[in-house]
Amino acid sequence: MKALAQAEFEAWAHTYDRSLLNRFLFQPSYRMFLEELYGWRKTKDTPFDLLDIGCGTGTFAGMLAGSELPARIVGLDYAPAMCRVAEEKARRAGVEDRLRFVAADSEHLPFADASFDAVTCSNSFHHYPHQQAVVCEMRRVLRPGGRLMLIDGFRDNIIGWVAFDVIIGAVEKEVHHAPWTEIDGYFRTAGFRDIRRRKFNFWMPVLLTMGVA
Ligand SMILES: C[S@@+](CC[C@H](N)C(=O)[O-])C[C@H]1O[C@@H](n2cnc3c(N)ncnc32)[C@H](O)[C@@H]1O
Repeated sequence: MKALAQAEFEAWAHTYDRSLLNRFLFQPSYRMFLEELYGWRKTKDTPFDLLDIGCGTGTFAGMLAGSELPARIVGLDYAPAMCRVAEEKARRAGVEDRLRFVAADSEHLPFADASFDAVTCSNSFHHYPHQQAVVCEMRRVLRPGGRLMLIDGFRDNIIGWVAFDVIIGAVEKEVHHAPWTEIDGYFRTAGFRDIRRRKFNFWMPVLLTMGVA
């Protein structure tokens, strides 16, 4: 499953940003993260450390780096080609001093315990074969009071089931869009509290699940 995802995104890296999914799925996800981060951090002017897992070509990381939020950002992705495109985009945007990219697996995060104040992950979780283990890793690298924000396809209504289980499942093959109850269980087992959810994007419904470490 991991090898398949890595091969898919190595091949897709240079045209990924031109995909229609950007407009209909990825961009709404970045906007949702920014809305939540602004709501949480706007009144605090202290810098914070954020890890974006499955960062792809680093569009969200770049948007955050260009915002007024004082975030120190690390993007992590299993496909080295995605990280290289992300680095190049950050250089072109002149924000490379506020972020860096690491090629690694979400299941084995190469960071010490309690290294980050926030972990984000959008549209990547369905590629992970051991989802509970990844949520535990996310929890491990968060500082006490830190937040996990996880976005992935919502397959618990008919539109989401067709979009994610039927269509994306047929295209991407070995993926698992977890029902919301399963994601809730992962968060609870990993020790997150104050779990909240927001569903958005009517025609390609996605679910943001948040928890506090
Ligand atoms: C559909 S893209 C999403 C990228 C970005 N977060 C966004 O919302 O546009 C999924 C990304 O997850 C990455 N990925 C898949 N499996 C991974 C794993 N085990 N560890 C880290 N990243 C992974 C892929 O390489 C790909 O870049």
